[in-house]
Amino acid sequence: RTFLRFLGGATVISLVGGVGAFIYVTQRERHPGSQLAYDPEKKTVVVLGSGWGATSLLKTIDTTEYNVVVISPKNYFLFTPLLPSVAVGTLSPKSIMQPTRYLARHKTRAVTVIEAEATEVDPVNKVVTFEDDTEIKGNMSHTTISYDYLVYAVGAEVQTFGIPGVQEKACFMKELNDAEVMQRRFKDCIESAAFPGQDDTEIDRLLHIFVVGGGPTGIEVSGEIHDFLEDDLKAWYPELAGRIRISLVEALPSVLPMFSKQLIDYTESTFKESKIDILTKTMVKEVKDKSITLQMPDKSIQDVPCGMVVWAGGNKGRKITQDLMAKFPSVQTNRRGLIVDDHLRMAGANDIFAIGDCTSTAYAPTAQVASQQGAYLARVFAQMAKKNKLEDKLTKLEQSGTTAGADAVEQSSLKSEIETTKKSLANVKIRPFHYSHQGSLAYIGSDKAIADLPFANGNIASAGVATFLFWRSAYLSTLFSLRNRTLVANDWLITKIFGRDLSRD
Ligand code: FAD
Ligand code: NAI
Repeated sequence: RTFLRFLGGATVISLVGGVGAFIYVTQRERHPGSQLAYDPEKKTVVVLGSGWGATSLLKTIDTTEYNVVVISPKNYFLFTPLLPSVAVGTLSPKSIMQPTRYLARHKTRAVTVIEAEATEVDPVNKVVTFEDDTEIKGNMSHTTISYDYLVYAVGAEVQTFGIPGVQEKACFMKELNDAEVMQRRFKDCIESAAFPGQDDTEIDRLLHIFVVGGGPTGIEVSGEIHDFLEDDLKAWYPELAGRIRISLVEALPSVLPMFSKQLIDYTESTFKESKIDILTKTMVKEVKDKSITLQMPDKSIQDVPCGMVVWAGGNKGRKITQDLMAKFPSVQTNRRGLIVDDHLRMAGANDIFAIGDCTSTAYAPTAQVASQQGAYLARVFAQMAKKNKLEDKLTKLEQSGTTAGADAVEQSSLKSEIETTKKSLANVKIRPFHYSHQGSLAYIGSDKAIADLPFANGNIASAGVATFLFWRSAYLSTLFSLRNRTLVANDWLITKIFGRDLSRD
């Protein structure tokens, strides 16, 4: 009985403590304190982008030492790993967005957030030109800003290889708007198939969905569409759901080349069970209004009727990145993106750091890499500030050493202070960026995920429902704010209980 009483007491205390901590954290997030103002004496770091790289930098950088300005056409951070879940309505868009101002408002010094698209970087005069590219513009919608340091983190756009019809007719899975467009189109295909008098051939066309690209994006999108079909559409469109077909097209011999062979096999067999057709060694040649043109493994060309094409064909550099590279034609020669050194400094330029998908490095263009690079740069800035301070101190000490009138004792203590400062300066080391791979994870539908996790000097491959739970908890904990974690957990619960919403806006 004493033990039970103790257990009851401990439970109550931990519950009250938990609720108290929750209230404290949420209220601290809602009501940020006062911030230091812009300081003209400090150097200005201009950050282009509000994605993985930029947000990780912003989260970590010590703003007591710098003025920070963030410029991005999106005034929020988007948690891309959960974007395919938004495309089928498992999660609502707001749950995976975090306004950049929330983060900026919690920094020690006020960070300026500008919703604008950078259109040009002038690396000689250290100036960025940017403009308001939104619907509503004020009298002022185009201007420039000078930087001491530029952090270039604009990400990449979707690679279409100039294949006819892709840009105009396919949907993508890169931005929030893409997920919303895909959801709308998919629901439109189903409602159009349900239109009275629709003939069988047209129903089959409308309900054939093509996903192009067997990389993780294409795989996750296919898995999510399959879940929507199994969990919800079968109940609400019983006469049509069985006729929905998902085909995944991949030009290479296998899907997911970055995963180990056994996980590729597992994904392929799960897709087979889920009736998702995988067409490997098949190349998309054109996307038309009502069909997709495929070059089959035997090189024959087939025009297959379909209702919708989701394009997940990989990354390509943005125009602003290509323009910036063109300013350094002899060093910026990699078409994949900006070449940086091992301290993430853009080759050829001064005071420009580049991180994430806009760069071409030995690492895959992933959130993991971009966020580690952002955090690394924050540490670099801290070291640079420390170094600058010591250099200033040393200059002042050395200057005071040359002023006349100091006695021998003062001279000796000055000398020793100069030596100590020099030693401290020598100890400020800015180490190169080192990437630590935490593993690769992907959701493949049917409450299953795959994971390649580094272990000792090797790798552990894991797949299935337990891995799916791991996938969920890993991403839940990676979300940047408690607010987003709460929203995502709540969406998962609501979807489990009530299913996904079918209405089309
Ligand atoms: P982004 O996150 O794309 O950010 C670029 C930022 O720059 C954006 O805020 C954009 O608005 C802004 N910008 C664009 N143009 C301009 C301009 N002209 N001026 C100023 N700002 C500009 N990686 C993983 O590691 N794990 C995953 O599970 C995973 N899942 C993914 C799922 C999907 C559907 C997608 C599309 C990608 C996924 N990735 C994943 C990859 C990951 O999202 C990217 O590698 C990551 O976003 C790269 O970060 P970044 O900061 O370089 O670019
Ligand atoms: P990707 O580059 O990984 O895959 C694109 C695929 O499309 C390639 O396999 C390519 O062969 C294929 N393709 C291109 N053109 C084609 C055509 N005409 N016909 C047929 N197939 C064609 O691109 P993805 O999946 O968008 O990923 C981009 C980056 O984001 C990668 O680095 C990836 O690792 C990362 N990512 C990671 C995720 C995860 O870890 N779960 C999820 C999504 C993306």
